Amino acid sequence: MKMGIDEQRSTKMEITNVNEYEAIAKEKLPKMIYDYYASGAEDQWTLKENRDAFSRILFRPRILIDVSKIDMTTTVLGYKISMPIMIAPTAMQKMAHPDGEYATARAASAAGTIMTLSSWATSSVEEVTSTGPGIRFFQLYVYKDRNVVVQLVRRAERAGFKAIALTVDTPRLGRREADIRNRFALPPHLVLKNFEGLDIGKMDRTNDSGLASYVASQVDRSLSWKVQLDINSIPWFYKILINACIIKGQLLYMLAIIQLLEGSADCSLYLDVKWLQTITTLPILVKGVMTADDAKLAVQVGAAGIVVSNHGARQLDYAPATISCLEEVVKVAQGRIPVFLDGGIRRGTDVFKALALGACGVFIGRPVVFSLAAEGEAGVRKVLQMLRDEFELTMALSGCCSLKDITRSHILTEGDMHRARL
Ligand code: FNR
Repeated sequence: MKMGIDEQRSTKMEITNVNEYEAIAKEKLPKMIYDYYASGAEDQWTLKENRDAFSRILFRPRILIDVSKIDMTTTVLGYKISMPIMIAPTAMQKMAHPDGEYATARAASAAGTIMTLSSWATSSVEEVTSTGPGIRFFQLYVYKDRNVVVQLVRRAERAGFKAIALTVDTPRLGRREADIRNRFALPPHLVLKNFEGLDIGKMDRTNDSGLASYVASQVDRSLSWKVQLDINSIPWFYKILINACIIKGQLLYMLAIIQLLEGSADCSLYLDVKWLQTITTLPILVKGVMTADDAKLAVQVGAAGIVVSNHGARQLDYAPATISCLEEVVKVAQGRIPVFLDGGIRRGTDVFKALALGACGVFIGRPVVFSLAAEGEAGVRKVLQMLRDEFELTMALSGCCSLKDITRSHILTEGDMHRARL
């Protein structure tokens, strides 16, 4: 029997796993938009590696454990959520579907999990809040004009967002060659809503990627761990002490002196993350940490958490997969602050592997925009449901009834196998 067109379409829509949404998105979206969502930087080695690295981690399942009840709930920065799977910030979601960030916010709330809204969203913080209750984080790019940042953070705070995810891996935009070829720019009927009314809400068509030009003109590439001091306003004895610390490479002592100086009103001091802490009471997650060294600094400056991320392989190509960096970051954090991971999460088994290596939760990026393109809010709901079901099954088949039962000994990494051969 021949199927009607509608029937064929609905059969096609019988999605059985998260990956299948990408092909549908590719079919539905204009090439410029699909390419923007899908691309990684340059050779896209890291893009592939973000997935491949998961496939090199194997399970050591435990058997004959009563798994009739499985609890996936957890707490993130004090907020209880239904599962350790959250939504990463992805820019410009109305290019995927007219409901854009509204649909994502509703789907996340329905699933009882957290959505992170991008600075470069096509819906404003207030609009997303108007969709109804939900736990939401706001992702921040630091603009050269710090007044813009202050206004934006305050608006997010007033709108009820619960944390700031400070993206630290984008002093410049990575070379996404498809965007350069397509001369990527935000379609003219859309704007970066959080900046509407300011003359930084537009992204013009340029000779290459409009987004890369936008970042080059607006984003503060001097953002750093380093301390920026108005040296003239510092008492002379502190100057000598700080100079001595710099010469001896004593960062910790230098930070201690700066803590002292912060109490002194006439000294203008900025450690960028510290500066952010002076303009908001919201906890700050540092998103984009890939090494133990930076994890150490994130703990020192008082970050509320770390997101191990390579920006979905869109920044520095040949950076390792995030799952390969997770353990060294977790080791340094020593449980003082939670460590999360994003990059390549497409299966419940990936979630389990990340938790076994010490993550407190994971975030997903592309699956959200691809499912939005395919089916709007229903698609995002389905993605979250499929990942939840797969994760629950992985827990059951590994012999884990709650997240605390997931341990390092439930998995086998390449490093473990290598050590076992020695
Ligand atoms: C992103 N990402 C991102 N990150 C961020 O801090 N601010 C942003 O505006 C965006 N925008 C964005 C757009 C698109 C289309 C993608 C694919 C990614 C990175 C994102 O938060 C996350 O780190 C990755 O997407 C995670 O990897 P996966 O799940 O896409 O493999």
